[in-house]
Amino acid sequence: MKPVPHIAALAPYALADLAPELTSLAQNESLRPPSPKVTEAVQMALAETHLYPDPDWTELRSVIAQVHSISADHILCGAGSMELIGALASSYLGAGDRMLTTEFSYLFFRTATQLSGAEFDLAPEHDLTVNVDALLDSVRPNTKIVFVANPGNPTGTRIETPALRRLRDGLSKDVMLVIDEAYGEFSDALSESTFDLVDQENTAVLRTFSKAYGCAGFRVGWGLFPPPLAAEMRKVLNPNNVSNVSQAATAAAMRDQTYMLETVRKTTEIRDHFITEMRALNLTVPDSFANFAILVFDTAEHAQAADQALRADGIAMRAMGGYGLAHCLRATIGDEQTMQRAAACLKSFMGGAT
Ligand SMILES: Cc1ncc(COP(=O)(O)O)c(C=O)c1O
Repeated sequence: MKPVPHIAALAPYALADLAPELTSLAQNESLRPPSPKVTEAVQMALAETHLYPDPDWTELRSVIAQVHSISADHILCGAGSMELIGALASSYLGAGDRMLTTEFSYLFFRTATQLSGAEFDLAPEHDLTVNVDALLDSVRPNTKIVFVANPGNPTGTRIETPALRRLRDGLSKDVMLVIDEAYGEFSDALSESTFDLVDQENTAVLRTFSKAYGCAGFRVGWGLFPPPLAAEMRKVLNPNNVSNVSQAATAAAMRDQTYMLETVRKTTEIRDHFITEMRALNLTVPDSFANFAILVFDTAEHAQAADQALRADGIAMRAMGGYGLAHCLRATIGDEQTMQRAAACLKSFMGGAT
């Protein structure tokens, strides 16, 4: 049996290299479990698991809509935002079409494009930061979708709101712009909301419960879509894509904004302290607006040796070779104790005082 050629040509999607004994700072998960209210909601939902879940995510959509002051009718939920990225690509990209993203953007944008039989282009970034002019210059006649993550993964850097609006204005109306705000909660205090851009019929904004809400294991993402786009995507999404336990859990997580904001506060405080320590070791670390930081070493060999030293001390960061950044490691911000261990290990590795 032969798979279709564009699937046969694909390498399996690369996840973090994690052994069970390692503490993971490799997957940008939250530094703490979700709100205790999530546990209560899960207990209640367990009594309903003989039934299929609500295919319209009614309660979850209504809570999201309330918190973000947007219309519930235009929200879709997915089994992680990965499912929504995949559905966007399979609804709007096919053989002969091109997707445009940036040099160091989230790799799944590319995978989803290739799964649809389309091809992608990468616009250069400057200092690990998205450059809107470079993106606009890279649009081709058959570019159908532009994907940007804001803040970016793996860079942690951010596109400021005026630049993002300039990107939308500079793209032709028949090019779809997808703004993936998986880490948006970590930079909401600095950014204007982009949900109003969705009124333009050719823009979608994605969010997830996997990061600031600490619900990665529930696999729930959501997005705001123009209605015609949402109608097409519904055809592609698994009709029972989010379990009733996951719907109840994430609705409870969204209701507890105080808890989520406290997670963001703790994370950014630990992150900024960690970045200061890393810069003191002469590593280059761009300012991060997410729950991770990218550490830039002088060579790929140096980054690889640092990764080995961390692993020997029981900590797994994310090697960045797959992103074309083999001289970097991406450090998810864990709890204070774990970050102190990571910092001490890197200090000793770099030959500084411990
Ligand atoms: C930029 C970005 N988008 C989307 C995702 C996928 O998140 P989810 O867990 O919602 O599928 C990630 C996960 O790391 C991410 O970094």
